[in-house]
Amino acid sequence: MESSTFVLFGATGDLAKRKIFPALYNLFADGKLSGPLSVIGLGRRALTNETFQAQVLDSLRTFSRRPPADSPELQRFLLAFEYSVLDVGRPEDYRKLLEHVLRRERELGLPQNRMFYLSVGPEFFGPIASNIQASGLGDTEGWKRLIIEKPFGRDLQSARELNDNLSQAFREEEIFRIDHFLGKPMVQNLEVLKYSNPVLRALWQNRYISNVQITAAETVGVEERAGYYDKSGALRDMFQNHMLQLLMMMAMQLPKDSTPEDVRSKKRHVISSVRPLLEDELAQNIVRGQYAAGELKGKPVPGYLSEPGIPAASQNETYIAARLFIDDPLWSGVPFYIRTGKRLKEKSTRIVIEFKEPLSDIHNKHKISLEPNLLVINIGPEEGLSLQLNTKDPRRHGELEPVSIRHESGNPDLPEAYENLIYDAMLGDATFFAHWDEVELSWQWVQPIIEATEAGTLPLHPYAAGSNGPAAAAELLGEDHWWLDEETAAPAAQSETAKAVRQGA
Ligand code: BG6
Repeated sequence: MESSTFVLFGATGDLAKRKIFPALYNLFADGKLSGPLSVIGLGRRALTNETFQAQVLDSLRTFSRRPPADSPELQRFLLAFEYSVLDVGRPEDYRKLLEHVLRRERELGLPQNRMFYLSVGPEFFGPIASNIQASGLGDTEGWKRLIIEKPFGRDLQSARELNDNLSQAFREEEIFRIDHFLGKPMVQNLEVLKYSNPVLRALWQNRYISNVQITAAETVGVEERAGYYDKSGALRDMFQNHMLQLLMMMAMQLPKDSTPEDVRSKKRHVISSVRPLLEDELAQNIVRGQYAAGELKGKPVPGYLSEPGIPAASQNETYIAARLFIDDPLWSGVPFYIRTGKRLKEKSTRIVIEFKEPLSDIHNKHKISLEPNLLVINIGPEEGLSLQLNTKDPRRHGELEPVSIRHESGNPDLPEAYENLIYDAMLGDATFFAHWDEVELSWQWVQPIIEATEAGTLPLHPYAAGSNGPAAAAELLGEDHWWLDEETAAPAAQSETAKAVRQGA
């Protein structure tokens, strides 16, 4: 990897503290950052370098997965951080920043490679990008790259406007859009799983798959983000980005030894093949929900409307579930069920693949009741895989019983999503970043949902905090299928609990 200067806008913010400094530290400690390190932090408040370095150290102590040990190495890491005051709208601050960057490049003998990380509100993306260009910060002899993170717009039109702004200063291949779900190790593992296992590779299609369920359930509520969340809701906060990215990662079919360009083109293929929702089909395919008061881990929790900062009549959704189809020969006829919500019973992000029952009634003379084969890919917080098979139980006259073969990665010290992503961006590898086409096509797909929500034509279903979400979401799956939760996917519990949960869900 070529060394570079890391220019961090929003260096006194929350994301910097919680994620970016610890990620840089762990990359440094793993010896992944070659050459001298130069980080220039920017913020509105005046800070000395020493105060800034003390803040970085503080963040490592609180948030790093690896506690920082007092050592000359740690000192070397901290001394790489310098600070400059910057008011986003003041051109002269960018000229000062350029002088600062050039001075550090000279002092450290760094090539003119510059990474601009915009850890600021999206309203500042456009102005910062044009000032980077106008000030000459972007005229480098090496490479320049931009890292930004969602929200990329609030709807199709604003996303396009934002992208037009950015593309005046940065080319698409210089823009690294973080979707932190793409940095999760198990998501990065999906492709490997499919392609290094001929068994799975062969089964990854509609001939064998009955349905796919993608869930990102959270137990937290709106937390301290009422202002942001009440304007975003589950659709913009999670669904348009993380959930649709998981869908693309799950459904794409890559050639062997694929390049980042292959990944992008296959993901684009998936998202552009998702069947558009017609206005009069929306209510049968989309379920919006909002949590009411309930109980979580034995403690009462308030409903969304009683959360601080949330308007008492808010119609914002804290849960969304969708049924969608991919119009592609490999996936035709396979429903994808996707859901995400806050204040649910468990914190779990996972993909469950339910395989088809190949024995038709004619061949199944003895009317054996088979549970479906399930492949469960646990993405977080615990990582792992499990495969449910049917086997004979010798204690029960050879009756069939489902068993689960499990693999839990059990490694608590895995690199964090931000470590993986910052490292890839430094290498210039765009495999696990969201390309503009994916972002645009995702907005295009959700746009009718946004419009129906604004028009008030999509009902909002209440669900009790601590439950599995609104009962209406179970109806998306029809009579013969149900959401496979922790308890309903467990082999022993399968038939009875699953049916009960489904009926009463
Ligand atoms: C963020 C959302 O992008 O993802 C949050 O803004 C959500 O609302 C979070 O809580 C979930 O991420 P993770 O990694 O905890 O599953």
